[in-house]
Amino acid sequence: MTEITNRKKWFSESRYGLFIHFGLYSVAARHEWVQTLEEISVDEYKKYFDHFNPDLLDPNEWAKKAKEAGFKYVIITAKHHDGFCLWDTKETDYQICNTNYRKDLLNELIEAFRNVGMKIGLYYSLLDWHHHGFEVDGYHPMRNKHEYIERHPGDMHTYRKFMSNQVKELLSNYGKIDYIWFDFSYKSRDWGTSLGKGAEDWGSKVLETQILQLQPDILINDRLGLGRGVQTPEQFSRNKGLEDENALWETVQTLNNSWGYDRDNLQFKSSELVLKQLIDTVSKGGNFTMNIGPNARGLWDDRSASILSEVGQWLVRNGESIYGSTSCSYRPPIDCRYTQKGDKLYLHIFSWPYRTILLPDLGGKVSFARLLHDGSEIRFSDTKNLGGEREATTDLYKEITEVHIKEALDPTMLMLNVPIIKPNEFVSVIELTLKEALE
Ligand code: GLC
Repeated sequence: MTEITNRKKWFSESRYGLFIHFGLYSVAARHEWVQTLEEISVDEYKKYFDHFNPDLLDPNEWAKKAKEAGFKYVIITAKHHDGFCLWDTKETDYQICNTNYRKDLLNELIEAFRNVGMKIGLYYSLLDWHHHGFEVDGYHPMRNKHEYIERHPGDMHTYRKFMSNQVKELLSNYGKIDYIWFDFSYKSRDWGTSLGKGAEDWGSKVLETQILQLQPDILINDRLGLGRGVQTPEQFSRNKGLEDENALWETVQTLNNSWGYDRDNLQFKSSELVLKQLIDTVSKGGNFTMNIGPNARGLWDDRSASILSEVGQWLVRNGESIYGSTSCSYRPPIDCRYTQKGDKLYLHIFSWPYRTILLPDLGGKVSFARLLHDGSEIRFSDTKNLGGEREATTDLYKEITEVHIKEALDPTMLMLNVPIIKPNEFVSVIELTLKEALE
């Protein structure tokens, strides 16, 4: 097996990743873009640096929570657009060891997450609103401050060198890094007075070569502007999987539309919705990466923590249908999603039906069916056993069978007989054991 296949393997088997957005914007607590949304100058923004001290942060507690919530990998914002660095970088003073926290938080987090067996991803912002080499553009907080722009014309050459040195630090000093996540390229933007930036501005090709020399097994996302890497559709669900089944993708999502801690934003997704998004993504062959924005003291807020924990509890009982599973070519019934793994087909029921579910194309192909969360048998009929006495044990049951007999007699169909009462699960999963494993 080649290295490439290996790294693809851990990624697609994981299926569920955790994004962590944590930095100076956690103190402002109103979106990680606050600096530019409110056009806060670098000098004014310094108050967040001065007051940054996540004194209640326990890296092992974060890792424990993440593990319990069912995440298999983590992506940590080493540097976000505001330019603040969570590690002890030699390249700038604008970093964690110079705040009241005084320790290399990135190092602590990497160790803690590694200790619970999770793979490590690092997010690195290509935008940098603090570094003077970074040319002011339409996203920059100082875009309307002409004096500032005159005094800081930018020097992308210096900035590229800075990025390359920082990436070298990240990939040399923290052991094996499984995934590096750049954010983002916006070459097509044109603000009239400034243009967007892309691969050439970042020196993406050179960066990519450097990265692969330092960590040959690493995965790189697709935002360097090179048209390759792990695809990262943000905040939307794909209609269908990719043509190239070997291409890797993950949809990255927030709980409340903000990546950084956003105190007054209460538009949280329900646990059920998050779970349905996760299932839907895996049914299309992708990964689902959910975000948390811890607060300024370093705690996970209660609302976020409880959603993630509810999804995690569902995964304890039903995770078989997610981890290591992928899309399949069978057409699911309405309001259902399939995932598959070897000889198992997992039917996820988004809307609980009355007594029966007809499964197209599965007639004669299933040897056993059970509800995944409690392992209880689900009886089924297809042309092989319909009409026989075997399952028609009560009049009621016989009646139901007869109602469906016409459709069920279609030899391609299989009919599941489900309980009237919906199990107490956000989404119930029926595991179908196939007589022959799928590819
Ligand atoms: C974006 C945003 C950002 C966030 C990221 C996560 O492109 O700029 O704030 O970190 O997406 O995907």
